[in-house]
Amino acid sequence: DGGGKPFLQQRTIAREIQLKESIGCGKYGDVYHGKWRGEDFAVKVFRSFDEKSWFRETQIYNQYLLPHENILGYMAADITSKSDDMTQLWLITHFHKNGSLYDYLCNNESITKHQAARLLLSTVQGVVHLHTEIQGAHKKKPAIAHRDIKSKNILVKSNGDCCIADFGMAVVQEFSGTKVNFPSNPRQGTKRYMAPEVLNLSINMGNFESFKKVDIYALGLVMWEICLQWETDGVVDPYQIPFQDMVQPDPSFEEMRDVVYVQKMRPPLPNRWQGDELLSNIAAIIDEAWHDLADARLTALRIRKNLQSAMDDEGK
Ligand code: ADE
Repeated sequence: DGGGKPFLQQRTIAREIQLKESIGCGKYGDVYHGKWRGEDFAVKVFRSFDEKSWFRETQIYNQYLLPHENILGYMAADITSKSDDMTQLWLITHFHKNGSLYDYLCNNESITKHQAARLLLSTVQGVVHLHTEIQGAHKKKPAIAHRDIKSKNILVKSNGDCCIADFGMAVVQEFSGTKVNFPSNPRQGTKRYMAPEVLNLSINMGNFESFKKVDIYALGLVMWEICLQWETDGVVDPYQIPFQDMVQPDPSFEEMRDVVYVQKMRPPLPNRWQGDELLSNIAAIIDEAWHDLADARLTALRIRKNLQSAMDDEGK
């Protein structure tokens, strides 16, 4: 049993919540600001064709995940049929007024070392929680791989820490095994963030570890996005989405395959990072996260430890 509230309570919340303004729209649905009993929440309304993502995300929250400060907080899910062909699929979560990490990086010209460190560590901590199996007497969760890690699926909380969202594609590992429990969901990850082994179709879909390594590749890209906005000696780079100058705005699978797998390109590590001890150490971590060979990538836990020691060493 995961961290979900009782079903009847979820229904009550969904029936009583008032929808306010739209705070985001995407291919798979729209997100609204909502109010329930005086408090702010976010309501994700899924497109009816994407019922399987709603089902999977709801299942992940209710059955598999445990609440964690770096995972978007879950309140309720609801499904209502207006008529035979009109099904409404809702997911109600905590609301974060800063919006996504992508919005946050676009809206801020620069971030300080302190802010960047919080964004980095908290994002990595969220992935560590997902990837880790917990087998306690009272707390139990399987290892989960996200499969669509990107800056638009990470939210920035008002304390400056991140939390991970969108579990519509997540896969779950069998307890103490290697087998994978799949969603019956045809949705694919975001092409721009796809790892080389996904792009060249060589990924071993039968082994759960493969999916953790795919997450780590995408995590490397997200870490790069954060570091780009990190100001050193008054210099900062404008925000760029990964591969901004290398592919079209909505790249095709073939285009990404060519750039990432055939040409083995990665986003550029700015020269100015080499002049900063901490940033150059983090660049080395990023380089091992988005490694061409999945087996050579660091684990989330190792990234957290390396980041922590790079930050502790700083100024010694
Ligand atoms: N955009 C998508 N999900 C959100 C959330 N939970 N809070 C704020 N903005 C969001």
